[in-house]
Amino acid sequence: MTCNVALLKGGFSAEREVSLASGTASAMALRDAGYNVTEIDVTRDIPSLISQLQEAKPSVVFNALHGQWGEDGCVQGLLELLELPYTHSHVLSSALAMHKERAKALVEQVGVRVPESKSILASDLAMGDPLPRPYVIKPLSEGSSVGVHIVFEGDNHIATSREELGFEGEIMVERYIPGRELTVAVMGDRALAVTELSPKQGFYDYEAKYTDGKTDHIIPAQIPAEIYQEALDAALKSHQVLGCQGVSRSDFRYDDTADGDGGLYYLETNTQPGMTDLSLVPEQAKHIGISFSELCAWMVEDALRIKEG
Ligand SMILES: Nc1ncnc2c1ncn2[C@@H]1O[C@H](COP(=O)(O)OP(=O)(O)O)[C@@H](O)[C@H]1O
Ligand SMILES: [Mg+2]
Repeated sequence: MTCNVALLKGGFSAEREVSLASGTASAMALRDAGYNVTEIDVTRDIPSLISQLQEAKPSVVFNALHGQWGEDGCVQGLLELLELPYTHSHVLSSALAMHKERAKALVEQVGVRVPESKSILASDLAMGDPLPRPYVIKPLSEGSSVGVHIVFEGDNHIATSREELGFEGEIMVERYIPGRELTVAVMGDRALAVTELSPKQGFYDYEAKYTDGKTDHIIPAQIPAEIYQEALDAALKSHQVLGCQGVSRSDFRYDDTADGDGGLYYLETNTQPGMTDLSLVPEQAKHIGISFSELCAWMVEDALRIKEG
C-alpha cells in the first residue's frame, strides 16, 4: 500500500521562498521513493491548512517549513493537536533551538564551546557597545542570516533602529569569532560530515547562502582531524541535548588561529535545515552514500517509527 505523505511548504516567515524550494525538491524526492505526496502551501489561513491536512489523510506529515511558525514549535503544536506524526523536531526542541541564547546555554552544559553573548533590547544599542568589539548583533529567533550585523573595530555607526536592523525588541549580541565557517548535519544518532562554507566575499549572509556560486562548499572540510571529530561530536551532542528528532544541522565557527584545539565554537542548531539541491544536509548525506531520495524516505520512516515507539 502506498504511504500518504502531506508535505508542508511555503509558510509566512521571512524564509518563505527557501521553504517553497525545499518543499518542491523534497516532494520530488519522496515521489521517487514511492510515496504518495500531497503538497500543501501553508499560508496564514490556518482553517484551510487544517482542512487540507484532513483531506489528504496522511500517515505522516513532511515539514518543509523554515523560520517563524514552521520551525519554532508552532506548526509542530498544531500537528500534535491533530495527532499527526511529522518529520523533524517536535514542539520543545524546535522552540529551544530557535531561541539562540537558550540553545547555547543547554549546549554549553554538555561541554560544547559557545561564544559569550548577552541578550539586550535593540534600543539599548544606542547607549554604546554592549560587548568589546568586534561583535555580532542578531535577532534571538530568526534564521537565514536575516538581520545578522557585525560591528567591527573601526565602524563608526551601529544600526539601532528597526529599519536598519530589520528587527527590534530582544536581541543577542555575541563575540565575533574570526576564522572559518563549518556546518554539520545530524541524521538520527549519526553526525554525517563537516562542510566548510567559504564565502566568495564578505561574510556568510542570506544572499551567499541561497545564490548559487556565492559560497564554496568544501566537503570534507580541510581542517585538522581532531577538530573535524570535535565538530561531529559537538553537533550530535547539541542535537541530543536539545532533544531534536530526525535531521538537524548545527553551525560552527572555527578560529584556526586559536591556541591548541580551543578554536571551535557552536553558533546554532537548525531544526528545519534547507532541503534544496544546493543544501548542505543532502550534500553531506550524498557524501556518505545516501541519496536525496533515501534521505527523505528515512525522515518519513523515522517519523513513523517515533509514533509507534
Ligand atoms: N559569533 C559570530 N562570529 C562570527 N560570525 C558569526 C557569529 N555569529 C554569526 N556569524 C555569522 O553570521 C551567520 C549567521 O549566523 P547564525 O547564528 O548561524 O544565524 P542564522 O543562520 O540563523 O541567520 C553565521 O553563519 C556566521 O557567518
Ligand atoms: Mg546559521
